[in-house]
Amino acid sequence: MKIPIFAANWKMNHGPSDAREFMRSFLARYARHSDRTVAIFPSALAFHAVRESLDSRSDVLCGVQNIHFEDKGAFTGETSASMARDAGAKLALIGHSERRHVFGETDEEAGKKCAAAVRAGLAPMLCVGEKLEQRERGETDEVVVRQLTAGMAMLEAGQMSGLTVAYEPVWAIGTGKTATPADAAATHAVIRRYLRERAGERGSAIPILYGGSVNKGNAAQLLAAADVGGLLVGGASLDADGWSSIVCT
Ligand code: PGA
Repeated sequence: MKIPIFAANWKMNHGPSDAREFMRSFLARYARHSDRTVAIFPSALAFHAVRESLDSRSDVLCGVQNIHFEDKGAFTGETSASMARDAGAKLALIGHSERRHVFGETDEEAGKKCAAAVRAGLAPMLCVGEKLEQRERGETDEVVVRQLTAGMAMLEAGQMSGLTVAYEPVWAIGTGKTATPADAAATHAVIRRYLRERAGERGSAIPILYGGSVNKGNAAQLLAAADVGGLLVGGASLDADGWSSIVCT
């Protein structure tokens, strides 16, 4: 049975006070479900507030939105994977399109970050996706395969078990334009083929999430598309009521 993953990427929203309020309201609406996984990626500063709110709710996982690829050192403003793990993170988003396109993170850095996450015992959620102009030039498959190849370059077969991939077409992020379930399924099939070639049987089990303007109105349809193993949600995850409807899809 497919256990869908619902992941909330809060980006630079919700400080500790808002995060506490969100969690109070969300947990009151969302009872423990064994047939789905819920993960929240708060900002680094709100991380502790979210973890504290989860006290007895080990069913809801916490992750960080970014890590540095070095384990420690003179990297002002950065957080290492081992620090995130120590703070209670189970997952790390790697190579989100905003990291790539706003902060200039390279494919190679995403690869080093995936390796750093695994070294520290964090499960990497590797984000891939094409920009609009790449899609218009028919380069979608090539772009996602290039990002996967670099992102997974330093992982050995035995390290793939915790990996999750999130397909997030850049033109659909925060724009209100969602890929159709058929578009999502087509790219997920390309990603699945790559994962099987790269990781054999293990590659068949790596969940592939869809992200990009997911909301409570389109979540069910996207989740029903072939090989969509979950949803990575930005804007629509910020309100506890809307987010609980999505996770109860
Ligand atoms: P969005 O963001 O749901 O606001 O489009 C998704 C993401 O960037 O992960």
